[in-house]
Amino acid sequence: MITINNPPVNALSPGVPEGIIEGIETAEKDPDVRAVVLIGGGRTFIAGADIREFGKVTSGEKPRFTLHPVLNKIEDSRKPVVMAIHGTAFGGGLEVAMAGHYRIAVGSAQVGQPEVKLGIIPGAGGTQRLPRLAGVAKAAEMCAFGEPVDARSALAAGILDKIVEGDLLTGALEFARGVAGRLAYKTRERNEKLGDPTANAPIFAAVRENARKTRRGQMAPLAAIDGVEAATRLPFADGIAREAELFRVCLFSVQSKALIHAFFGERAVAKIPDIPKGTKTYDIKRAAIVGAGTMGGGIAMNYANAGIPVIVKDTTQDALNRGMATIRKNYENSVKKGRFPQAVLEQRWALITPQLRYAGFEQADIIVEAVFEGMALKRQIFAEIDKIAKPGCVLASNTSTLDIDEIASATTRPEMVIGHHFFSPANVMRLLEIVRGKATGKEVIATSMALAKKLNKVGVLAGNCRGFIGNRMIHCYGREAQFLVEEGASVEAVDHALYEFGMAMGPLAMGDLAGLDVGWRIRKEFKHLEKPGVRVPLVADRLCEIGRYGQKTGMGWYLYDANRTPSWDPDVAVLIEKVAKEAGIQRRTIPAEEIVERTIYALVNEGAKILEEGIALRAVDIDVVYLNGYGFPAWRGGPMFYADTIGLKNVLAKIEEFESKHGPDLWAPAPLLKRLAESGKTFESFDRDKESAAGA
Ligand code: 3HC
Repeated sequence: MITINNPPVNALSPGVPEGIIEGIETAEKDPDVRAVVLIGGGRTFIAGADIREFGKVTSGEKPRFTLHPVLNKIEDSRKPVVMAIHGTAFGGGLEVAMAGHYRIAVGSAQVGQPEVKLGIIPGAGGTQRLPRLAGVAKAAEMCAFGEPVDARSALAAGILDKIVEGDLLTGALEFARGVAGRLAYKTRERNEKLGDPTANAPIFAAVRENARKTRRGQMAPLAAIDGVEAATRLPFADGIAREAELFRVCLFSVQSKALIHAFFGERAVAKIPDIPKGTKTYDIKRAAIVGAGTMGGGIAMNYANAGIPVIVKDTTQDALNRGMATIRKNYENSVKKGRFPQAVLEQRWALITPQLRYAGFEQADIIVEAVFEGMALKRQIFAEIDKIAKPGCVLASNTSTLDIDEIASATTRPEMVIGHHFFSPANVMRLLEIVRGKATGKEVIATSMALAKKLNKVGVLAGNCRGFIGNRMIHCYGREAQFLVEEGASVEAVDHALYEFGMAMGPLAMGDLAGLDVGWRIRKEFKHLEKPGVRVPLVADRLCEIGRYGQKTGMGWYLYDANRTPSWDPDVAVLIEKVAKEAGIQRRTIPAEEIVERTIYALVNEGAKILEEGIALRAVDIDVVYLNGYGFPAWRGGPMFYADTIGLKNVLAKIEEFESKHGPDLWAPAPLLKRLAESGKTFESFDRDKESAAGA
């Protein structure tokens, strides 16, 4: 029995492959050993290669080990090797498993080749062995999209030989005794599922088309498909060589660096320097929400999905009915799409209680306010819930811009008040921006971070300022998008340029989706803070004044049909031209490059201020916000990482050019950006604590 023991996830870090080789050699030599079981110690089989090693290789270190000798050693063993899988066999983990002669697993195990999510492809024979076990179509799909496959599907596909009921090790030993002494197949010699070029052509064409559509702009999915295709055309050894070439190109790409940054970033944001791991958290067993609108309903779904009963309160029966109907429709759509069965829908639905009064709020462990963005209304609601909530109840506001401290001051317990800024649609978007007020207790923050995980969200801690991390930055991005339209770019040209850059959608289409009235309401709330003489966008307010709120009213920047398919509206072009003329704005042709630079660098410049002020703990926190809340392409790593890849000197030069054209109020470079650019550093390297210690 060989047990892999490299907690927490048994990654194939230096030492582990050597250990496997040693185990196999010992077994080979020992006449009493007739079969080998390879199993993971702790919570999982092998979660893959050690991702931290990749950065070392790309920065010039010689790779410490390649996996091929280990895999060949296993595969060439004269004694059958049984891979016993629980948890996950991902990436290099599945590649190790496929070099074994048999694979058995518990029912809860998952297998997969998720390398593309890190911008690389399987690099230890995954593209060559997987089609030999699972067939070309399944292998191409798994390598191109990286999604995990559950044990039952893996069994059906031929990746697994058996699912073990009960204890894995007992089952594995029994299985091993059954096959001991028998001549076993080598996966690399099994060619019967590789098909022929004529049968494979439509399979590869379809998966490539799907990859181009759903993994827009990414190179690894297409490279992974090339790798699988090589398995069908070349002898095994040549296929491995082709895979190695493709792997190397991907590994050295900026895309891969960006995706690996995103992988570790998602885990780094959970670590908050002044809140140690063991900080006490409140147990959240019951939730209550004020407001059954789009956000309130979406948030309620999150709680119900996590099995937490939730009350949703609104002021009119009509509003409640509308909110509940939307929730029901969303759930029914998920059932139609096969995401979960009707029984799960009913279970979740039964956890949501709509009502007009506060009855039951006194039992809630968390109360979430999700009403319109108006300070007076929010303060009134917090004063009300303060009277009802039990001690130890977390009071969260879903505000996207307003001052958490001012909201908290409407209560007698500001230490329990925190921002939980969900992103629309709240049941889909993974980001939860957690906003810390000056009085917010550490336990409340720790509870919120833990809750985010439970709700299947990525929680990012932000400081309190207007718009926090996400919306403070998006304000600058949206501002520039609108200025560009006023200066001569068409609405479609602006959206198209940013879509091509990789954003999930263009900024103006995004405004229509979120509702233009939301920004309108916020602008009115903050009108008194506007600096006289500084240019502000003009068209969005005009659209709202004529009832064009976006998708919800069937028109905004675009016109929408009943299915919410957008089309260009010439009336909007006329309005834009009129507004620009009234304001004396010179219209001109604007290239796509300028559209991208003006909008993305506006994000970066504001991000730099947010970082220096400590609103974001680290640059990666900003990146994670943008990747999970605003559709920023993960393969560009987030706005701050992207700026690092362009080079902060280059970014600064452009921003200075914009400053000279559009004035310092809008474009004065952030002091941090200047400092880092001048000293040849990156946002990623910035450590505020070290810098302030040095300054002191
Ligand atoms: N290498 C190095 N560290 C890893 C790792 C890996 N492959 N997988 C996870 N970790 C680390 C995480 O960074 C985290 O560290 P931290 O505690 O310091 O933040 C810790 O292990 C625990 O990870 P999670 O918090 O993600 O734990 P979960 O239980 O939520 O998830 C998991 C476990 C599903 C295995 C998830 O970690 C995961 O998906 N990992 C990545 C798997 C992967 O991409 N494998 C392929 C690697 S590339 C490869 O194998 C190339 C090959 O073809 C040659």
